[in-house]
Amino acid sequence: MEKTLVLIKPDAFGKNHTGDILKRYEDEGLKIVAAKVMQMDKKIAAIHYAEHVEKPFYPDLVEFMTSAPLMALILGGDNAISKVREINGATNPAKAAEGTIRKLYAESVTKNAVHASDSPESAAREIKIFFSEIEQFGA
Ligand code: RTP
Ligand code: MG
Repeated sequence: MEKTLVLIKPDAFGKNHTGDILKRYEDEGLKIVAAKVMQMDKKIAAIHYAEHVEKPFYPDLVEFMTSAPLMALILGGDNAISKVREINGATNPAKAAEGTIRKLYAESVTKNAVHASDSPESAAREIKIFFSEIEQFGA
């Protein structure tokens, strides 16, 4: 079973879209392997978004991601990494396809409802940031 790290970001979590978003993933056959509610701090944000720390959008991104609680998840299933990114839709909700989570729930390119790992290497790295071994069901 392939695993991927998903975040239901503070915008979607705060607007009570969590249940609807989890239903989308479950309806596509993905399994919830781990889940928790937490608030990111600047240190975790810098580790999680290491590839973006030098980008011009990073200050807005870190301010948003640390502003309020979010839900961290590990989802598992066949081709979970690419499947979740397809369900999430394009980073910019204006470009996201109909029916994707970002088309439905994202407000802007920053406040875009969800995060998902983009490769097996990213998934392995990101899962370790948010979850210990014993928190992963069936791992
Ligand atoms: P994610 O990592 O959240 O799954 O999204 P992604 O791969 O589609 O996007 P990525 O390029 O990794 O960017 C990470 C997050 O940074 C914010 N962002 N803002 N203002 C901008 O131009 C900009 N570009 C990216 C978004 O919140 C994006 O999800
Ligand atoms: Mg990304």
